[in-house]
Amino acid sequence: MFASKLISNSTAAGRKSSAFVATYDVAVGRNSYFSTPTTRRNSTTPTTTTIDSSGFDKIGCVGLGLMGHGICQVAATSGVHSKIIAFEQEQRFLDSGNDRILKSIDKLVEKGKLTLDDANDAMGRTEFTTDMDALRDVDLVVEAVIENIDLKKDLYTSLGEICKPETIFASNTSSLSIGEMAAFSGRPDRFLGVHFFNPVQLMKVVEVIKTDDTDPIVLEKGLKWVEEIGKVSVLCGDTPGFIVNRILVPMLMQSMSLIDRKDASVKDIDVAMKLGCGHPMGPLHLADYIGLDTCYFIVSGWMEKYPDESDFFIPACLQANIEAGNLGRKTGKGFYHWEGEKRGDPVY
Ligand code: CAA
Repeated sequence: MFASKLISNSTAAGRKSSAFVATYDVAVGRNSYFSTPTTRRNSTTPTTTTIDSSGFDKIGCVGLGLMGHGICQVAATSGVHSKIIAFEQEQRFLDSGNDRILKSIDKLVEKGKLTLDDANDAMGRTEFTTDMDALRDVDLVVEAVIENIDLKKDLYTSLGEICKPETIFASNTSSLSIGEMAAFSGRPDRFLGVHFFNPVQLMKVVEVIKTDDTDPIVLEKGLKWVEEIGKVSVLCGDTPGFIVNRILVPMLMQSMSLIDRKDASVKDIDVAMKLGCGHPMGPLHLADYIGLDTCYFIVSGWMEKYPDESDFFIPACLQANIEAGNLGRKTGKGFYHWEGEKRGDPVY
């Protein structure tokens, strides 16, 4: 295993830079390569890019769970930061986040997608800590803690007090309001959303979310940062589900409704969407992969907030799975049986 060869910590290592960057131009709807400064023509973006780089030298990653460990890893392996502070409140979560990063990095090294030197540099630049004070002087905090608005409000209140005034906060929330969290940070102008997709190491797109209060330069820095770490940015306002989940989650619910009505089997729904629409995973496979609790949480939050929206509803089979504790991949059973990462036969 390569992880055994990885150093656990060291001083800052060399940084990579590139004169040209790949971005997704929201105005023309395709990837484009250009040198900065660049004019953006979409109504939700500022008109002119005025910065050459994000300027994020030292960043903090708060929360190292399913999404957070991936974000931390991608930022570390991008080579653009002198230091990444990886923070979890409890040692056991810090250790499991560290472990997940090492396992994923191992895979990438094994497959020749990352050199051992780059892997060591990435780990060397990453400091794992349970001390929130270590985030005091970071330029950016990316938060990926559990989707509980009260917990996030408390966290942002603390971060607002601890971090230097210039620190920009970015939440990876998939379904909560960015504006609501920003209000508790004491710096709503320096607050945005950066929504990654699972698995973060492989999925290329990141939704960047602006609120009415987000400073245009802060938004530009967020967009630049996404490019710098090798992802493609898309821009969206602070609306439920942003772009992807607003389309994806109702589709998952509709696929479960077919099950409720006994119109089609789990297998046939997934085969239909894979071969009929070219999706890499069928919707029920994907729901298990995401976690049925996460799907449930997203929709129930929206139902509470937007009771008149007919797209937001909980199918009976989802409710039954939740009540039985069958949450998909993470519990070994959902719409499919699972053995670790490996999907088995449909349950029904
Ligand atoms: N780190 C490093 N490598 C990884 C990895 C990780 N975390 N996860 C998988 N890999 C590697 C595998 O080892 C494999 O490597 P090889 O090809 O060299 O063998 C490679 O990546 C591909 O993986 P798989 O063989 O398992 O399968 P795949 O080709 O089907 O790709 C997938 C997997 C990228 C996940 C693909 O199935 C896919 O795109 N699925 C859809 C995922 C999706 O829709 N995600 C969004 C979920 S919604 C969300 O995240 C938002 C939200 O808020 C709920």
